[in-house]
Amino acid sequence: MDRIWVQGGRPLDGTVPISGAKNAALPLMVASLLTEEAVELENVPRLADISLLTDILAQHGVAIEPLGAGGLRLQAREIASTTAPYDLVRKMRASFLVSGPLVARCGEAQVSLPGGCAIGARPVDLHLRGLEALGAQIALADGYVLARAPKGLKGARVVFPFVSVGATENLVMAACLAQGTTVLENAAQEPEIGDLVACLQAMGADIEGAGTSRLVVRGAGRLKGVRHAVLPDRIEAGTFAMAAAIAGGSLTLAGARARDLEAPLRVLAEAGIEISEGPGGLTVARNGARFAARDVVTEPFPGFPTDLQAQFMALMSLAEGTSHIKETIFENRFMHAPELMRMGARILIRGQTAEVAGVERLKGAPVMATDLRASVSLVLAALAAEGETIVNRVYHLDRGFERLEEKLSRCGALIRRLTD
Ligand code: UD1
Repeated sequence: MDRIWVQGGRPLDGTVPISGAKNAALPLMVASLLTEEAVELENVPRLADISLLTDILAQHGVAIEPLGAGGLRLQAREIASTTAPYDLVRKMRASFLVSGPLVARCGEAQVSLPGGCAIGARPVDLHLRGLEALGAQIALADGYVLARAPKGLKGARVVFPFVSVGATENLVMAACLAQGTTVLENAAQEPEIGDLVACLQAMGADIEGAGTSRLVVRGAGRLKGVRHAVLPDRIEAGTFAMAAAIAGGSLTLAGARARDLEAPLRVLAEAGIEISEGPGGLTVARNGARFAARDVVTEPFPGFPTDLQAQFMALMSLAEGTSHIKETIFENRFMHAPELMRMGARILIRGQTAEVAGVERLKGAPVMATDLRASVSLVLAALAAEGETIVNRVYHLDRGFERLEEKLSRCGALIRRLTD
């Protein structure tokens, strides 16, 4: 199993190209199920989660080919199977997104329940309630969800009891092929949803309210093909911003958009990190001085993203003062804390809040990656730590970060992948 070796203590300097957003590319690929015509996506990151979704879509009958450098062409002329099997779905929760488009197009879908996952129970009840509101009959059998709507889905008003990115995406896609108007209230407003809506609109969908909590979808009989470029990954950009902050030096994040990162950039600026936006992207710098502790609470967009919480905790472990980090989206997302503590961080977990008392230095140690964002937080800590760190189980990292070690080493980090 691959490991990452880091010799800490070197500042970073250079330009990092920000990849296409994984969390936008996944639903955009699923949107290919909505039309017989080709969906051509540019700027798709090369990641394990993307390959996995390629396998899932292929077994539904989608023909998938590379498109130029870093693109994918997906065409679902016919749906070969409406079943998404356990063996594939259990590996990635986002594969549940196929349920809405399949039932909307074919009148039925059998999708394995995603099962538990390291960062909490993460049920799919909101997806199911939404599809039910659109007229699907839902049954559960042998670990599978069976959704049936033989006469097609019908537009309806769906009020989400809390914000869910995945349920919003699933429902907005399904509603595009439903008869009549669907109104989604308390919808997620993440930039990745804006990207999905923009792509669906270019496919001929009639959707109002992108970027707000109320989406109105007037069902179209059919959608057409499209060519669409995936938006830049705000989580990758935020991660490199924190890398520059923790290691010191200056990184330019090529392609990053400040408007997708307002909350984290505000907190970094308050902590004393220099941030500027130019035509090519964002520059994040820290020269010498220590930074101040800040408190954050994770929230749906436009709040501070849960997907940057672990990275921020690594940063705060070296801050001047004590920081309180409250996680409100997932119930079990502090697994990086004990690993950071192995490197000398002082962290106390009290329920949903981590109290991080900043220390002057971290020390390299062997640590274990537990999930996608947790693993990158350990790499960030390692960049600033004295001595060597080995991060084990980096397959988590490969799910969400494209060429991380290459991008960091080009900017001066001493980082290598060890393959056994
Ligand atoms: C997406 C992102 C993930 C990010 C998360 C929150 C993708 C592929 N993944 O995940 O990186 O961390 O948004 O920003 O885009 N929930 C339910 N019932 C449901 C659906 C969700 O209880 O039917 C709960 C979840 O367990 C979680 C919370 O709602 O506690 C938010 O989940 P959701 O926004 O749906 O996250 P994902 O779409 O899975």
